[in-house]
Amino acid sequence: MELIIVHEQYAPGVALIQLNRPKELNALNPQLMQELRDALHQLDRTEAVRVIILTGNEQAFAAGADIKQMAGKSAVEMLIMDQFSTWDQIRKVKKPLLAAVSGFALGGGCELAMMCDLIVASETARFGQPEIKIGTIPGAGGTQRLTRAVGKAKAMELILTGRFMSAEEAVAYGLAIKVVPVEMLMPEVLALAREMAAHSPIAIQLAKEAVNRAYETHLDEGLAFERKNFYLTFASEDQKEGMQAFIEKRKPDFKGR
Ligand code: HXC
Repeated sequence: MELIIVHEQYAPGVALIQLNRPKELNALNPQLMQELRDALHQLDRTEAVRVIILTGNEQAFAAGADIKQMAGKSAVEMLIMDQFSTWDQIRKVKKPLLAAVSGFALGGGCELAMMCDLIVASETARFGQPEIKIGTIPGAGGTQRLTRAVGKAKAMELILTGRFMSAEEAVAYGLAIKVVPVEMLMPEVLALAREMAAHSPIAIQLAKEAVNRAYETHLDEGLAFERKNFYLTFASEDQKEGMQAFIEKRKPDFKGR
């Protein structure tokens, strides 16, 4: 891995991936996205890993797709390159994926953060879809996910003006769950990750899948999907252990079985 740094055991049950193209503000070129896809795929299959944190550096989570690499391409070249198949695979990660965002999260960077399950922002975070300023539009889900996250009016403002949104605004509009001082970003995300990692990984995966359904389908189908996953947790030893531990007033010991 050249453009990302992977800490498989950042903390017990928690892995960390750091985007690492600092000079280019972590601009997302195809190589970086492929490395990210491969690392996520690997961590998703590693039993000891239960939660994955994705972060950048203090200046940038990611300032978008690599404009220099895209600028001269024709529509047909872009189509054949099919970079979004990599993004589609990232979307299929089953474990919780938490975005820790400082600095710029713009264009594809904002879209990548929104593909995570939740975003924690530091005070320096700036979110935006500024593609309009360079004669294009969001291409990795920005018009859809931002609109679902912040509502139509705010999404229209951001996407049609290219303006950036502060961390406080992102929290106010429901894009990020909280804003913390820069030095508290990783401790805060790690605390969240560890809390999730302590739960049954089976229940966590089924819950994540079910919440995502809320975005992908209408209510009746979403409720039916949730119900099936709810029943499915009763096929796990973890559900038996979790409920028995409650009854016996002790801490559960989840084995992921
Ligand atoms: C390539 C980038 C880049 C990008 C920054 N850089 N963003 N290179 N692609 N998206 C490079 C700059 O060229 C510069 O390199 C170095 O990083 C530092 O950037 P500066 O512009 O000098 O920094 P600053 O003045 O602080 O401004 C920061 C910034 C600005 C506001 C974030 O860099 C900016 O506007 N970047 C582009 C943001 C954007 O439009 N993103 C959307 C891209 S389209 P050099 O070598 O010149 O010093 C997109 C579509 C997604 O994401 C579709 C899905 C794939």
